[in-house]
Amino acid sequence: MPEHLNQKLENIFKPYKTIVVAGGNWGDEGKGKIIDLVMEHYDLAVRYSGGANAGHTVKTPQGVKLVSHLIPCGLAQHKTCVMGRGEFFDARLFSEELAAAKQALGGGLPEIFIDHMSPLWTPWHSLLEGWLELSRGNTKVGTTGKGIGPLEGIYKLRVSPVAGHLLLEKEELVTVLKMLYGVMLPILEKVRGNIPAPESVAEELLSFLPQIGGRITDTSFVLHQALQNGKSLLFEGAQALGLDSHWGTYPFVSSGNSAAAGAAIGAGLPMQSFAATLMVVKTLPTRVGSGPFPSEMWEREEAMFFAKNHSELFGEGAGRAEFLSSMLKKINQKQATAPEMSQYFQVLGDERGATTGRGRSVGFTDIPWLQYACRINGPKWLALTRFDMLSGVKSIPVIVGYKYQGRLLQPGQLPPPWEMSKVETIKEDWPCWTEDISGVSEEKDLPQGAREFLSRLEKAVGVPILLVGTGPGREAAVVRGVA
Ligand code: GDP
Ligand code: IMO
Ligand code: MG
Repeated sequence: MPEHLNQKLENIFKPYKTIVVAGGNWGDEGKGKIIDLVMEHYDLAVRYSGGANAGHTVKTPQGVKLVSHLIPCGLAQHKTCVMGRGEFFDARLFSEELAAAKQALGGGLPEIFIDHMSPLWTPWHSLLEGWLELSRGNTKVGTTGKGIGPLEGIYKLRVSPVAGHLLLEKEELVTVLKMLYGVMLPILEKVRGNIPAPESVAEELLSFLPQIGGRITDTSFVLHQALQNGKSLLFEGAQALGLDSHWGTYPFVSSGNSAAAGAAIGAGLPMQSFAATLMVVKTLPTRVGSGPFPSEMWEREEAMFFAKNHSELFGEGAGRAEFLSSMLKKINQKQATAPEMSQYFQVLGDERGATTGRGRSVGFTDIPWLQYACRINGPKWLALTRFDMLSGVKSIPVIVGYKYQGRLLQPGQLPPPWEMSKVETIKEDWPCWTEDISGVSEEKDLPQGAREFLSRLEKAVGVPILLVGTGPGREAAVVRGVA
């Protein structure tokens, strides 16, 4: 990490013993990269929500790419990792992730704690999720298939097994599982003939105990003690405000408390423990699965299948460079349609999900959405990722207002989710810049157009942009001079 970046970050974060890093769009904002950048200045990495549905990518200076789903991505910096009570626990996926991390990071891992009351996944959760999605027909949520809805729902019904139950004797675990089995059997029998029995589910879950057993504890007490001992904590959000089960676009949401406020419930610390929130937002937001997305450039299904149907354009694909240069030309001649712009940015950013590989649909920078997200999350700063995506684009539409029922909504105001599709977006064309800013790490090295874009955006949203992502790596970021 370049020393000038490190020093600036040290000065900024030192006064904040704790920080919540939360997503502001619909996920995949680059939270992993920003957390990795800031993590050096904190002692513990704490997940407070979501589960294996998350996919957080970290690219280390050694070129290692680590995608973490359950374990906080502070793991990449060998920080003590805490998986809080607000996070759903999947023993099988945890064991797989642990093995992959050992290989990627070369052996010794830091301490990892799992909360003893985290809702515990069973194969029945996934069967139920399959049935829920199927029965919704064409209003399916388009989930990641990790059983997240049932994990939250069953917990709230008060019949859920929890991670700590893995420490019980096998017969005791079977008794716990039988309660859930009894509740679910009438539904599951309608879905499928062959339902695994509690005994075999217990056996499978217990087979992961060697990797898990010693890590299960009361994590809120671990965090309480860490704070008492003067340690600093980074709370790692999963998903994003648009996917929060209360403040997102319900029912097209995930099932956890992805908002910044979820950190208090999910980690079990009093509200005054949270010093500041850094909200991560994507220059061009993306969405996978179903649900409202006012700034979207193209049809969701089309965009999600584009990556699958045009694999030659993605990653190291042979047709990529030519496609990008001809499309950029078209964009700059103002001849590109919105779907073509979507295709350009999807290919440029390799917009494919880190958990499911589905194509991510791309939207324009959306100021009214960000004003809403800031109203709920109350961030002290924004981290704007993937700013490099606009390099070479002469100008781009930016959403500056939402019109609903014939009138302009006030900053921070949204219609109910079921009316979101009726919102008319007001666009303005904002100048960008021609230079490539990939890897730029000093504000003075950003072209004039880029600097003007940033100040215009932060002024409109009303929250300072502290960090600007200029590439996937830890060092590809600008730390701006804001208080
Ligand atoms: P998360 O779920 O919010 O952690 O985000 P993901 O890891 O799912 O997706 C973000 C993707 O963007 C990853 O492939 C990152 O490596 C990449 N990324 C993050 N920040 C930047 C950036 O500033 N520029 C570019 N080009 N890529 C970035
Ligand atoms: P990270 O942490 C993007 C989306 C799914 C679906 C909806 C519900 O990497 O940003 P779920 O499986 O949670 O019940 O699916 O939420 N979704 C995400 N989209 N990034 C994520 O996580 C997501 N986690 C869930 O696509 O629309
Ligand atoms: Mg992700």
